[in-house]
Amino acid sequence: MKSAELISKMTLQEKASLLSGGDFWHTQAIDRLGIKGYMMCDGPNGLRKQEGSPDHLGKKESIKTVCYPSANTLASSFDVDLEKKLGQSLGDECNREHISMLLGPGLNMKRSPVCGRNFEYFSEDPYLAGKLASAFVEGVQSKGVAACPKHFATNNQEYRRMSGNSIVDERTLHEIYLTAFEMLVKEAGPKSIMCAYNQLNGTYLSENKYMLTDVLRDKWGFDGFVVTDWGAGKGPAKGVEAGLDLVMPGGPKDHEKAIIAAVEAGELDEALVDKAVGRILDVFFWNDDNAPKDAAPSNEATSKADYELARELAENSAVLLKNNRVLPLKKDKKILFVGEFAKTPRYQGSGSSHINSICVSNALDAAADRGVSYVRGYDTSNTKDSYILREEAVQAAENADVIVIFAGLPASYESEGFDRDDINLPREQDKLIDDLAHTGKKVVVVLHNGGAVAMPWIDKVDAVLDMMLAGDAVGEATVRLLWGEANPSGKLAETYPIKLSDNPSFLNFPGEHGNPVYAEGIYIGYRYYEKKRMPVLFPFGHGLTYSEFEYSNISIDKDSITDQDTVNVSIDVWNVGRYAGKEVVQLYVSENAPRVSRPHKELKGFKKIELNPGESTRVTFTLDKRSFAYYDERLHDFYVPSDDYSIMVGASSADIRHTVQVHVEGTVDLPGNFITFTPIEDILENRKGKEILGPVIDKVLAANDQEGGNDESLGEAGKKMFEKMIKEMPVLSLASFGMMSVDDVQKLLDQINSVVE
Ligand code: BGC
Repeated sequence: MKSAELISKMTLQEKASLLSGGDFWHTQAIDRLGIKGYMMCDGPNGLRKQEGSPDHLGKKESIKTVCYPSANTLASSFDVDLEKKLGQSLGDECNREHISMLLGPGLNMKRSPVCGRNFEYFSEDPYLAGKLASAFVEGVQSKGVAACPKHFATNNQEYRRMSGNSIVDERTLHEIYLTAFEMLVKEAGPKSIMCAYNQLNGTYLSENKYMLTDVLRDKWGFDGFVVTDWGAGKGPAKGVEAGLDLVMPGGPKDHEKAIIAAVEAGELDEALVDKAVGRILDVFFWNDDNAPKDAAPSNEATSKADYELARELAENSAVLLKNNRVLPLKKDKKILFVGEFAKTPRYQGSGSSHINSICVSNALDAAADRGVSYVRGYDTSNTKDSYILREEAVQAAENADVIVIFAGLPASYESEGFDRDDINLPREQDKLIDDLAHTGKKVVVVLHNGGAVAMPWIDKVDAVLDMMLAGDAVGEATVRLLWGEANPSGKLAETYPIKLSDNPSFLNFPGEHGNPVYAEGIYIGYRYYEKKRMPVLFPFGHGLTYSEFEYSNISIDKDSITDQDTVNVSIDVWNVGRYAGKEVVQLYVSENAPRVSRPHKELKGFKKIELNPGESTRVTFTLDKRSFAYYDERLHDFYVPSDDYSIMVGASSADIRHTVQVHVEGTVDLPGNFITFTPIEDILENRKGKEILGPVIDKVLAANDQEGGNDESLGEAGKKMFEKMIKEMPVLSLASFGMMSVDDVQKLLDQINSVVE
């Protein structure tokens, strides 16, 4: 209401001025009408508020604050409550700093492990990404601050990210690349969405009406505003018509002038301008109404509390990939730390999410009172002779019981703006690990990485603790996890392949001239490796703890439902180990006899639980239509085929403990309008079609049998052969092979088409 009234008082120039920024981080103010400039800032793993000269690559100064673990790290926590807590904490900080909108979270899918920005994205699985992003957005917005999830959509590589054209088919787009955004819009109602730089199927996302209006608003019900990624604005009229609202950053007012010219030339309807202005103002007025005006500035106490949260997040996200009983470390053992990252850890990614940390803890200092010795082992700047550093490490190892090597990707390996060349660690680090593994001592590897890495030495080491990019509390969290004061509970949110060429996007990444064809379709991440039965280094959902969990008594409350119903699946989980700990109980679904290509299984539920030794709990999941659906291009929507489905519950995608079955009856029919060349089985898939054509086909099969048309020596198998052949033929074949006349086939089709929608 308030915005409508104001818009009615605005000149065209004033309205146009609101559709692009006032400067790099603010919207345009209109003093005459009392509209202020609202500030937005990067996150999402901390606040990058720039008070001096601005940039979108994280090179220039921003305020000092706490850096939280990056999204790839947090995703491994599989913990929606923690995501929400992080969102709330960032919302509070935004209020202390007078920020109206936080630019995050990033929820693009990890199509390739070498996308330079994977550390800012949650997962290769849309369900997991959607749930975590929703919790984060709920947290931020509960504080009256708008969240701005990004980058909508198919922005899955950095190479030519501003111009590339992602070629994606409709099913893959909706099933893999849009599902997380869809869940987020429907579950958390983000106030804004940032459209990506790139093109999708030949149209820039900032001008893509299908995406910004047909899908986002009309199909999903998004009611916030769409802002461009910084510098992604194109032709103003096309953008506004497509559903784009705000172009950022502000600059020499080109966009404003172009909007005015387009309206005056009759090329752009002023009513669309009004709509866009209204959508932007509604969000910022919501911020005025809901954010506290008197939040005190950040101080030592708030920073301390934020740092503690960063530690909690890091400890809950770390993934214990391997452990041959060497961890947790015993107090009486002589420990040698090796590696530059023990002193100067890699704890965040580079680019627009880069945080100016108040204080970063390192493992060496954090372990100062534990009698640890240290050698450097390698030099990320490559100025020291790596052979000499390795020799030093091997010598120092003589006096140690356990060697803990801090390895990982140097900052120059992964960043916004470019992709990694491969998934290898620096050669000197691989060699160092190899040399130390040959000393015969126990070897633990601690990793700092924003994405999957290869581990050619995996069979030679005793344990691997993957800290990923763990934020400011990295050192302290690592030490507490190593010595068992904290118990690892993270699970991989992305598959770690053995080598890069195993990845399904390998042949089409980054695409000719940066125009990737998503030829692997829906088969990204574990969906592909499982379907191809390919070995991987570590599967999706994998992660060990110091506890041990047993699963029993799986049950389902109905064995048959329609796709309009829900069904509950429950299972008992016991902590049978010696440590209190957390487990991520994962639920996967697969269709037993799909007629279209479907993955072996897909994540449709997860819950993180905490149990003391000897304690148990019953975990219940509720499944609905989407748990069983795939996206059918004939329907342009998600569709549940009538079939039996397996529901699998376990500790990782590769560690399923128990399975139950349910029959789901679809209630939606695929579109009809069958023609003489429609395959018989497509008509039978339609419920009305089956009612009419089913008996005809049964008669044909029976007649064939009676006439000795089946090879009797094959028995039932002979009948099945004929049935298969018939069902995949066009319905016209019933006439071509003399089973009925062409006229009768047409009459049958007319009858079916008259009752099918
Ligand atoms: C990034 C966005 C970021 C924006 C503002 C762009 O380059 O892609 O994620 O929010 O800059 O810094």
